[in-house]
Amino acid sequence: MASKALFIVVAFFATLVAPSMAKVHYVGGARGWTLNFDYQTWASGQEFHVGDDLVFRYPVGVHNVAKVNGTGFQTCTAPTDAAPLTSGYDVIRLAASGKKWYICSVGVHCAVGGMKLVIDVLPEGSAESPASAPAPSPVQWIPTRNAGRGLFGTFGKFVPRLGH
Ligand SMILES: *[C@@H]1O[C@H](CO)[C@@H](O)[C@H](O)[C@H]1NC(C)=O
Repeated sequence: MASKALFIVVAFFATLVAPSMAKVHYVGGARGWTLNFDYQTWASGQEFHVGDDLVFRYPVGVHNVAKVNGTGFQTCTAPTDAAPLTSGYDVIRLAASGKKWYICSVGVHCAVGGMKLVIDVLPEGSAESPASAPAPSPVQWIPTRNAGRGLFGTFGKFVPRLGH
């Protein structure tokens, strides 16, 4: 019985831990999905991965969320064969890597109001740019030439230098 209870406890915590790897991105942060907000600047501060959720929050009936391709993004044109999301709290699970485009297809909210978002979804669990991240420079302690003088006596004076 004890082992069964333990199993249940472990399984419970496993379900808590595993999904926590995936992130929830509230589009626009506290501003939500709205007019005259710079979604590209917002997106540049985020790292999107497969398995993460995008959440679009807005007053029902005021805006919507249409998934488009690159062309639809440029021209602010939603596909006619797919209905946009309209719940006011639209959750989109990022299922595949690559670029994803979303617009509000209400009136000129995309073309004039700037309600357009493009993100680049990275594979699950990957780092943004593993090759370009610089390794932290080791700090070296290098004795100066005039060791032995002044306050520091015969122990010399040490200055921090950043190594390469
Ligand atoms: C983009 O989406 C539009 C509307 O759904 C469609 O007509 C068009 O063929 C698509 N373009 C590409 C390159 O997939």
